[in-house]
Amino acid sequence: MRMYDIIMKKRNGGELSREEINFFVNGYTKGEIPDYQVSALMMAIYFQKMTKTETHALTMAMMNSGDVLDLSEIQGIKVDKHSTGGVGDKTSLALTPMVAACGIPVAKMSGRGLGHTGGTIDKLESFEGFSTGISTETFIDNVNRIGIAIMGQTADLAPADKKLYALRDVTATVDNLSLIASSIMSKKLAAGADAIVLDVKTGSGAFMKAEEDAKALAQEMVDIGNAAGKHTIAVISDMDQPLGRAVGNALEVKEAIATLNGRGPEDFEKLCLTLGSQMLIAGGKAENVEQAEGMLKQVIADGSALKKLAEFVEAQGGDAQAVYNPELLPKASIVESIPAPASGYVQHIACDEVGICSLMLGGGRETKDSEIDLAVGILLEKKVGDYVEAGEALATIHANDAAKCAAATKRYVEAVTISMDKPHRDGYSIIKAVMDGRN
Ligand code: URA
Repeated sequence: MRMYDIIMKKRNGGELSREEINFFVNGYTKGEIPDYQVSALMMAIYFQKMTKTETHALTMAMMNSGDVLDLSEIQGIKVDKHSTGGVGDKTSLALTPMVAACGIPVAKMSGRGLGHTGGTIDKLESFEGFSTGISTETFIDNVNRIGIAIMGQTADLAPADKKLYALRDVTATVDNLSLIASSIMSKKLAAGADAIVLDVKTGSGAFMKAEEDAKALAQEMVDIGNAAGKHTIAVISDMDQPLGRAVGNALEVKEAIATLNGRGPEDFEKLCLTLGSQMLIAGGKAENVEQAEGMLKQVIADGSALKKLAEFVEAQGGDAQAVYNPELLPKASIVESIPAPASGYVQHIACDEVGICSLMLGGGRETKDSEIDLAVGILLEKKVGDYVEAGEALATIHANDAAKCAAATKRYVEAVTISMDKPHRDGYSIIKAVMDGRN
């Protein structure tokens, strides 16, 4: 088999066989096929697309490129959760202790920030000393002992995805349905959970901007998960503006803690309740959404979800005191308001641009090896539909460098559209749809 023939077949719109897909995935993982040939293939896939059969075969090839975790030593139904990526998406920080406090074992593999989107691991490192670099034994032991552990993707888990993702990131081939579906599902299937709840984002801050595309992506992932014998559910959620009000690592941790104290932003709390309910139902802890939401609200009200977060942070070497006193989290030296340039209603916030503002402040990586500044970011004072007077704060910027602060402020103002027309937000919900593969 020759890589040249595989590229040409896809370039001409042909359907790749399972053998051809296995050939290029295995060859690339082993370093036998060069980046330039795989880049050409990714671009051919981007334009010609893949059939469902090809996407399933690609997922399985990537899953089998490394270890498949065996979590059978953990008692109970393990339910994993994954987001397709967004801005201000601190969901795992609040959601995982909530469901763990309800008795669902959380054994989660998380990632770092990617492009304009943030990552759970970077956020968790806002707790001084916190480490996700734990061994599989400690990971399993912590889940059995306290009900929750989060680790980074090990080098041995879906290594083909690691290489392919890095390549797609620099060859403008990320936002393709089959490539995203296979990337996410190969990791989730290799991570060993019994059930998977996916948060598929749509809107200006998501990889899938249009709702129909997000739904098609969700359906593809649900089909792949269920075909592999894992109960898979997808929630389609809005990412047309940042989730909650905080964007930036430590700021998002503070907002997650506020949510566990019952003082979270409405959209964020609603998303946590919706995803959490699906996790409790899939994990056999609740019969329906109503019962599940009641359980989740209870663990917030009685403080057990917050306590679970503290136990989890401590078990992974972090300073758990900061859970009860978030003032101990990293703080920026410059805190400034971004004044509104005009009076009117906030019509639109270009969500990916807000992610880039946070990146410019140092909150994300410009290159693979950049150090990130955990303290910086943006707090949105006004969201879509809010009225603002000229000169009033649109947002508060947290920075450690005056020049970066000025550049991010300018970009933020350009990302927000203000006009005197009141936007139609009647009946708006952060949740667009729920797709359950078993229904
Ligand atoms: N998240 C992933 O893990 N992979 C993608 O391709 C996109 C988002």
